[in-house]
Amino acid sequence: MRGVPDAVIAPVLDCVFSWKPFKTGVRRLFYVPASISRGRLAQNPREAKSRDFPANASVEEQLKFLVNFAVLAPSVHNTQPWLFRVLDHTVEIYADRSRALPVVDPEDRSLVISCGSCVSLFGSVLDAFGFPFSCSVFPDMSDPDLMARITVSSRPDDVTIDEDQLKAITSRNTIRRGFQSLPLPTAFTAHFVGDEDALPEFLCVVKDREAETLILKQVQDTERTYQSDIRYRRESDSWMHPMRQRSRDGIPMNPEEPTTISSCWSSEGLSDHSTLLMVLTEPSDTPRAWLETGDHLMQVLIKAASFGVNAAIMNLPATSKQVREIIKPLTQCEGDPILLLRFGRPQRKLITPRRSSVDVMLHPGFRH
Ligand SMILES: Cc1cc2nc3c(=O)[nH]c(=O)nc-3n(C[C@H](O)[C@H](O)[C@H](O)COP(=O)(O)O)c2cc1C
Repeated sequence: MRGVPDAVIAPVLDCVFSWKPFKTGVRRLFYVPASISRGRLAQNPREAKSRDFPANASVEEQLKFLVNFAVLAPSVHNTQPWLFRVLDHTVEIYADRSRALPVVDPEDRSLVISCGSCVSLFGSVLDAFGFPFSCSVFPDMSDPDLMARITVSSRPDDVTIDEDQLKAITSRNTIRRGFQSLPLPTAFTAHFVGDEDALPEFLCVVKDREAETLILKQVQDTERTYQSDIRYRRESDSWMHPMRQRSRDGIPMNPEEPTTISSCWSSEGLSDHSTLLMVLTEPSDTPRAWLETGDHLMQVLIKAASFGVNAAIMNLPATSKQVREIIKPLTQCEGDPILLLRFGRPQRKLITPRRSSVDVMLHPGFRH
């Protein structure tokens, strides 16, 4: 893990890594823990509240409860490509490759980034609930689907829950329907633009308006080209269909009010300081680097959410070499651009659903 100034954003994955090429998908053997098999948490993790934390239960039951917050992580097309196995003091997070997007994301890069966000968020949730923990990524060379193993010590009795951190976690969401033309909070700008040297090396802020306009235009042009590919469109649409209203994954769409790419990726109608474009970069192109990017993404988003600011996310640089090559000189980043984040305040919030904890829980006896 590269050194990152704590004051800015501290990624949580500090892990031992071992990697082998992809082998198989994760077999599904779902487990319904007693604590979540009844009541509303079985239905909707978004309804989990810190007051529901089972303070007197075993550490294993407590970890199962915390899964409700970890699944609030962002994921490509809201595919939520993760599974959890909780046993005693250990949580294992697996990639669920049955949720892969073979056209949009042929190498599973965005899938692994999504899993990295989930691992990272689990770490932040453990911090918020006062659990000391250690984490190792790709801990089993023979199982490339096992993204991370997190081991906690018992939670000290007198820890108070960090409600501010939890609020940032639960209030974060992706902007899709355009931005308000309102200046960003000064504290947010001071944090991310105030001291360039304090920014971690994986994060670039695009300050030059001309460069920003060129990047936004590139995003729109490339997206238009992608949308003209029927396979791409069909795969995307299958996760964003208006009929998905009752589904616990994908992105609910209102056919009366279609979301257009230009609503978040143009500057039309916006005053100068209402958005800030940032670029997440990757030092190398390996699954470990993708998992780390997920960690970086999550920590940047939580930090921004703590200032009341959210982001539109764009993974075109991850999927298009052409976009990467055009964007890189514009951003003057060292690493390869991988995700674009456009921060601001949403015109309208769009809350995405989450699969229930039951649906993402593997049986403790599960062996891959
Ligand atoms: C790796 C990754 C890539 C993403 N790419 C895009 C994208 O290209 N366009 C977009 O609108 N949202 C993108 N998102 C955001 C997801 O659509 C969003 O996280 C998901 O729908 C869940 O919604 P939420 O973030 O509001 O919880 C991406 C998220 C991740 C983690």
